[in-house]
Amino acid sequence: MALLAGKRGVLFGALDEHSIAWQVAEAAHAEGARFVLTNAPAAVRMGAIEALAAKTGCRVVPADATDVGDLENLFDEACNHLGGKLDFILHSVGMSVNVRKGKHYTELNYDWLQKGWDISAVSFHKLMRVAWDKAAVNDWGSIVALTYTAAQRTFPDYNDMADHKAYLESIARSFGYHWGLRNKVRVNTVSQSPTRTTAGKGVKGFDGFIDFAEAMSPLGNASARDCAHYVLTLFSDWTRKVTMQNLFHDGGFSSTGVSKAVMDRFMRGERQTD
Ligand SMILES: NC(=O)c1ccc[n+]([C@@H]2O[C@H](COP(=O)([O-])OP(=O)(O)OC[C@H]3O[C@@H](n4cnc5c(N)ncnc54)[C@H](O)[C@@H]3O)[C@@H](O)[C@H]2O)c1
Repeated sequence: MALLAGKRGVLFGALDEHSIAWQVAEAAHAEGARFVLTNAPAAVRMGAIEALAAKTGCRVVPADATDVGDLENLFDEACNHLGGKLDFILHSVGMSVNVRKGKHYTELNYDWLQKGWDISAVSFHKLMRVAWDKAAVNDWGSIVALTYTAAQRTFPDYNDMADHKAYLESIARSFGYHWGLRNKVRVNTVSQSPTRTTAGKGVKGFDGFIDFAEAMSPLGNASARDCAHYVLTLFSDWTRKVTMQNLFHDGGFSSTGVSKAVMDRFMRGERQTD
């Protein structure tokens, strides 16, 4: 469809082929976009991203998303390399040290909390601030970050990531207001189904989590590829007046109280324990 023909962007967060950002990169390339890929220096050293860069004919610029100096260099390099200002940016970055180290929510380590908050939420403000200061985004550009419905409803094992996501979604609304006024740039978050990626699998009980969501969602869970296609619509010119929204991309999960599939399983379990 050449949905993104002539558009330039920066994509954060492609770690391996399972990453949502990886799928976005492949789909954006197929739709005619040109972009720069970025990830934390340690993730870039792992090497997989270079294969994606070769496949999509783009350049990799390492940047720690919490480091303003790295971000300044990234946006300078991206605009120089792509030959102009940007039309889209994807923030597909998340990490909780408390989740990684198995710390229970009632016993959070606050240094780890702060680190996870900086990586998962504040980095979204930082990258927008750097792009704002450099006036690096074209009129009618689009900025998207990925989030999860634990920002609205409790999923105990999602731990402090739930709080980071709530903060991230708030940044989209707050900064989105200013971007809209200044040069019609839109800012949204996409709230995605649980997806088998490195970040997803780090959550305790992830297999149960993903099966439950599948049974609850009338359309079934959205895959990383499905998510990529949805994100592309937000980068395209067909969604120009959508901004400051948290958009659920979850097969209907977030609007379902209970499904027949879950109820049937629950009742079967009840009878066994009678
Ligand atoms: N997988 C899921 O179930 C799911 C569901 C909803 C939302 N999300 C969100 O989607 C986004 C992408 O995650 P994913 O599932 O593709 O997993 P992923 O592990 O493939 O991607 C996470 C990325 O964050 C990067 N990152 C971590 N620290 C960084 C830093 N300091 N600077 C720059 N990059 C850094 C990692 O290198 C990695 O590429 C995250 O925001 C995640 O919370 C995931």
